[in-house]
Amino acid sequence: MKRRRSIVTSGPRARSPYAGEPRLGLRAPRNRAGGVPGTPGAPETTAGTPAPGRAAGSGPSGYARVPGGAPSPVTGSNGMPVAGPVPGIAGAAVDLSVDLAPKRPGGLVLQNPVLVASGTFGYGIEYGEVVDVQRLGAICCKGTTLKPRAGNPPPRVTETPGGMLNSIGLQNPGVDAVIERYAPLWAGWQVPVLVNVAGESIDDYVGVAQRLDGVPGVAGIELNISCPNVGKGGLQFAVDRDAAAAVTAAVRRATDLPLLVKLSPNVTDIRPIARAIEDAGADAITAINTLSGIAIDRGTGRPLLGNVYGGLSGPAIRPVGLRIVYEVAQVVSIPVVAIGGISTLDDALDYLAAGAIAVQVGTAIFADPEVPLRLVDELRAYCAARGLSSHLPLVGTALPARPGRPSAKGVEYRP
Ligand SMILES: Cc1cc2nc3c(=O)[nH]c(=O)nc-3n(C[C@H](O)[C@H](O)[C@H](O)COP(=O)(O)O)c2cc1C
Repeated sequence: MKRRRSIVTSGPRARSPYAGEPRLGLRAPRNRAGGVPGTPGAPETTAGTPAPGRAAGSGPSGYARVPGGAPSPVTGSNGMPVAGPVPGIAGAAVDLSVDLAPKRPGGLVLQNPVLVASGTFGYGIEYGEVVDVQRLGAICCKGTTLKPRAGNPPPRVTETPGGMLNSIGLQNPGVDAVIERYAPLWAGWQVPVLVNVAGESIDDYVGVAQRLDGVPGVAGIELNISCPNVGKGGLQFAVDRDAAAAVTAAVRRATDLPLLVKLSPNVTDIRPIARAIEDAGADAITAINTLSGIAIDRGTGRPLLGNVYGGLSGPAIRPVGLRIVYEVAQVVSIPVVAIGGISTLDDALDYLAAGAIAVQVGTAIFADPEVPLRLVDELRAYCAARGLSSHLPLVGTALPARPGRPSAKGVEYRP
């Protein structure tokens, strides 16, 4: 059996936004062809020029040369090779841009549909020395609250089969410090930064949104509603349709910024909640946040995490994320951005098929910070090999021709 690669020894180093956390041995993702990403088969640059060290138009690029018709080694969603020779268009001609706020004046246009997920990429600057952050579709920064938060007691992370549990507890310096320290930097960046906003009351959320409104460098808000609503006995906003709608509507009134609202998977039926959030004025939905879980310390027989509960992320949650995106995409007309266990092009393509127009990479970044940009390049190559000028034709191919009638039954399966 192969040894797991440690996140601290594999790939380039980044400054951890969680200094002092235990080191996890998350496995580096493998690409569709079964190879370790970053080895042959790796990408062109965004502009379609070959990556350094690879002669233009020659060598095993990992994707079809077009036009010209070399057989394409790129495989489809079903794992089968894309038929070649491939008529098509050059990678450079593929336009991966997406608008995450098409109903908002000016929209929120990203150069590509691969974002980095909140809590896994700090404020963007931590990874500046290891990846070209400007090539990302967008950055969702760490959850930001009105006041600074120290986070939960340790231990706060542990590895699990196919993923990890975290209970960071929204450690952050507070919105004023975020605006002061990071926004001036972001304002000079090409990549848009979405501030992930959290709170314990509607007033909290509104207070953060008001402060962010109009700040240069802040491109939009991603509302993390998987937070206890103190006024309602600690019930999370995200699991209560009315509370989810109320906080969305209040933030909508407080700012003109593009507003993405992030769903929790910890609900019986996501569809009424998604619809209520759309009706309340969200520009887009992002899904999913982590699943609630716990781990036991086998030495003591007690809960392992200092906070007892943690959020499960990583490949283990992908089928859940896919199901939720699939259900939400059928009942809303605003863009859906998928998150949950994405580390390979296959994963991203599956989410596009389920109805997402963009994806976020989270936990996979801890094993390999280059995953998001590799996905951009691989998606571009995949589209080029299929003669697609954009990834948008790949969106929603798994959805039923006629959406099923929304029901309150929740997960539609019988064990
Ligand atoms: C260490 C860690 C911290 C996170 N912090 C936040 C956060 O502050 N706000 C938020 O909305 N989601 C947060 N998340 C959830 C991720 O953004 C993402 O929704 C989730 O991890 C699922 O994606 P993944 O399986 O690709 O990691 C965090 C996840 C991890 C692993």
